[in-house]
Amino acid sequence: MGNMDCSSSGNQSCSGAIELLQGEQKAVRKLFSDYGQAKDVKGKEDVVGALSLALSLYCSLETDIIYPAMKASGSCSAEKEPCQGEENHHQAKLLIDQLQRLTADVDSEKYDAAVKELKAVVEKHFSEEEKTLIPQMEKSGNNFEKMSAHIDNFKAEHKAQLV
Ligand SMILES: [Fe+2]
Repeated sequence: MGNMDCSSSGNQSCSGAIELLQGEQKAVRKLFSDYGQAKDVKGKEDVVGALSLALSLYCSLETDIIYPAMKASGSCSAEKEPCQGEENHHQAKLLIDQLQRLTADVDSEKYDAAVKELKAVVEKHFSEEEKTLIPQMEKSGNNFEKMSAHIDNFKAEHKAQLV
């Protein structure tokens, strides 16, 4: 098959990885909008619990599968931005941890403010990825052929949580 362009090849495993990532982004965005609709403490806690799960799934998809495959193929390097999401992921994780420690203050402005801050970090990160990581993934068709088995395993392992 050679080094085909992902966007024009119709390569199943290639679009699979991008679709999976975009599906996860969509799920996370939906949860932030659900948070705005949450009526009580239980509702807020449920959304934050689901957010924690969805974000950790999303981060492991990138950190464990996408970044290593792209680095291995030279699609990510020091000069190229697409694989540098770790810092944002770490920031998001710290905010999630903070939220999960505020269990006595779910009904407070402090809690809403922390969710708002988390949303801002995540939104900024997603929009960077739409400009850098996803276009680079589209160009890396050859690379994604090797990734397909990992993607299939990931889907099977996380079937219950995936949208
Ligand atoms: Fe990311």
